[in-house]
Amino acid sequence: MKEIKAGLIGLGTIGTGVVKVFQKNAELMEKRLGARLRLVKIADLDITTDRGISLDPALLTTDAYAVIRDPDIKIIIELIGGYEPARTFVLEAIAQGKHVITANKALLALHGDEILAAAEKQGVSVMFEAAVAGGIPVISAIKESLCANRFRSVLGILNGTCNYILSRMSREGQEFETVLKDAQTQGYAEADPTFDIEGVDTSHKLAILISLCFGTRVDFKSIYTEGISNISALDLQFAKQFGYEIKLLAIGKLGYGKVEARVHPTMIPISHPLADVGGVFNAVRLQGDFVGPVMLHGQGAGMDATASAVMGDAMAVTRDLLRKGPLRTPSMGCAVAVRADLPV
Ligand code: HSE
Repeated sequence: MKEIKAGLIGLGTIGTGVVKVFQKNAELMEKRLGARLRLVKIADLDITTDRGISLDPALLTTDAYAVIRDPDIKIIIELIGGYEPARTFVLEAIAQGKHVITANKALLALHGDEILAAAEKQGVSVMFEAAVAGGIPVISAIKESLCANRFRSVLGILNGTCNYILSRMSREGQEFETVLKDAQTQGYAEADPTFDIEGVDTSHKLAILISLCFGTRVDFKSIYTEGISNISALDLQFAKQFGYEIKLLAIGKLGYGKVEARVHPTMIPISHPLADVGGVFNAVRLQGDFVGPVMLHGQGAGMDATASAVMGDAMAVTRDLLRKGPLRTPSMGCAVAVRADLPV
């Protein structure tokens, strides 16, 4: 049976989830692919901590380049997060002719152009379903199922940590700091939770969605961004008395030839479907000119849901490799072309 080898860089929460999928669903993936997708090397600076999974020590290394430069490995899964050394590792993987799967929204929001241009030049794929909205297949929906549409707007709840915090503050009257600690324990928050609570993670994700939906780049630093750290349990109680929930919303709209992009806490009437999105769940509402409104809803963070998205990408790339067909066009604005300067 044909075998495609993958290597993993980063054995944190999501990396551990990815290993679990490889271990638990190997047979199922093999049946669906008609080939074996095998994880043959894992790099992490810490290879001694017990992560609750059984691992052959021969798979482990502290040297990321031992994974990236292994000639047998065709797919590199980058799950270390952050800007550097992730950028260097991903560019090196591309230079080595590897296909890259990443969940790294910060990296794509800041260095997406450079990475995708390098991938295009090398003729390799860069896939990033797990970078936005965890387990929800929003990237493939935009790039594939809905790609005949001109998008007019994309909005949603894109940060599981913030939604978890706001939901528990609203439901249980808990204070911000207490619930943030819980979110960190559950593995939802970023290494630096400031990115979550100050809205930066949401801006990274919105910049990626805008790029895909509207075919134009938006620098995430130019997105108006306000987080949730100033919201108290009392604010949520008052909002509720008036019939509203407070949610951290990402909003991207195309109008008058311009893209409007903002991230901020928003009062949402309790009758609106977004007000009902609780816990670590995310929701994305897309408005296409033919399909109309589409809302996707599911777990936006956490080990298992995010690993599911990573593995979906890994299987898609494996299929491409097996049929030696055209690789997925890496360009972020490729699939859904409306230029920002064209009226809709
Ligand atoms: N920290 C992120 C969140 C992880 O809470 O949504 C998933 O991107």
